[in-house]
Amino acid sequence: MTAQNYNEDEVQTQKPPYQTPKGVHDILPRDQEYYTFIKKVVRHRCRQAGFRRITTPIFEFTDVFKRSIGSETDIVSKEMYVFEDKKGRSLTLKPESTAGVVRAYIQHNMHDLPQPVELYYIEPHFRYDRPQKGRYRQFWQVGIEVLGVSDAALDAQVIQLADQINKDLGIDHIFTLQINNIGTAESRKEYMQVLQDYYAGKERSLCEDCKIRLGKNPLRLLDCKQEDCKILADLAPKMADYLDKESREFHEELKGYLDEMGIEYVENPKLVRGLDYYTKTVFEFWDKTSGAQNAIGGGGRYDGLVELLGGKPTPAVGYACGIERMIANMKIEKVQVPSKDDIHVFVAQLGKEAKRKCLPLIQQMRNEGIKTMGALGEGAIRKQLSLADKFGAPYTVIMGITEVREGTAIIRNMAKGTQETVKLNQVIPALKKKLGEKSLDKYSPGEIVYG
Ligand code: HAM
Repeated sequence: MTAQNYNEDEVQTQKPPYQTPKGVHDILPRDQEYYTFIKKVVRHRCRQAGFRRITTPIFEFTDVFKRSIGSETDIVSKEMYVFEDKKGRSLTLKPESTAGVVRAYIQHNMHDLPQPVELYYIEPHFRYDRPQKGRYRQFWQVGIEVLGVSDAALDAQVIQLADQINKDLGIDHIFTLQINNIGTAESRKEYMQVLQDYYAGKERSLCEDCKIRLGKNPLRLLDCKQEDCKILADLAPKMADYLDKESREFHEELKGYLDEMGIEYVENPKLVRGLDYYTKTVFEFWDKTSGAQNAIGGGGRYDGLVELLGGKPTPAVGYACGIERMIANMKIEKVQVPSKDDIHVFVAQLGKEAKRKCLPLIQQMRNEGIKTMGALGEGAIRKQLSLADKFGAPYTVIMGITEVREGTAIIRNMAKGTQETVKLNQVIPALKKKLGEKSLDKYSPGEIVYG
């Protein structure tokens, strides 16, 4: 194990006294490369589509989530991290971001902006879930939300963007797009009654969760994973038969647009999603082998939510996807992401004077895009060279007493074991030539303008 590539899979023989709490984990350098890559893909694709980034707070007033997601949902009733502040106000770590984005849309009068308002986020979220593969208590989501316009073409564009991100990550072939339309809140009322009537007398065959859901949100019985519940759900009256005309037409339009864009989908009449705010379109990307348990992402239309949280009636549609699940699938597919964390040069020095001379040289090297470490410790050159090897540096710059006196430095090719002495002012040009202009780390965040 080198200092740079230690990883979480290494077995600890003796447990240290402090560990991360159950269900949460450190993101170590190796996985940061995946996060960086995913963030770049998402930022790039969102920018291309006119989205702008938003960050809502890690915690909100509990009511924001209760009202949005629904008190009877698993998320609100079982999975929220709720706490009180010093004044006794109830706050909650965000289990998802749609509610916070809608709260922000209303709070900052975004309805005065040209509509639709297109926002994306890359954020940690918190759910007190039962930890298992792909299910954590702190997890990251990338999400997109489009507020202000009701048009099936927007649902199609959100789906297309999600699909494009999966493609860019090399994992789109693992998933099938499942779509459904659950109607307007109004039209759903009749169907919920029909479902309750259908399940009446069959309660004994239902799992404990579904028994409770039946009185509160019978729709959720349709996507229960328990065998007996599944059998009953298969025979249940179909939602499509109770959809209002507007929702049916909207769904047909959406399918037409998806066909036009060549996006394949599976119509899934039992797909309802686990959050109460959805209206009309709902969709998920399901793992082809394991199905809904390992959905990588999901979303849908939520035309009533802005009004529910106190804003003007505003249609909206969105999607969110779990980053940990993206990474797990990229690893299964052996997708390699570019690593920019390797270093180019290790600087080894002997004596105090050499160390002093090395520091400004290192500074210049870094500014020229040469990724450099070193000028540390007092060890023998042999020890420092061995350290350079462990850090994986292809070149070492060596400066000892003679080099300081003569104004030179030695450049050592670590793989070949060859070395040459060059004038101090030739160190950077020589290294640049060896490394090649392309590999230099010349990233710039862009020019700032004053005033
Ligand atoms: P969601 O289906 O609850 O939807 O979560 C979206 C994705 O977040 C999941 O498909 C999964 O990849 C990831 N995820 C959820 N819970 C966990 C967990 N405990 N551990 C790891 N990953 C997890 C929403 O959150 C909606 N806000 C999506 C949306 C946006 N709808 C409209 N706009």
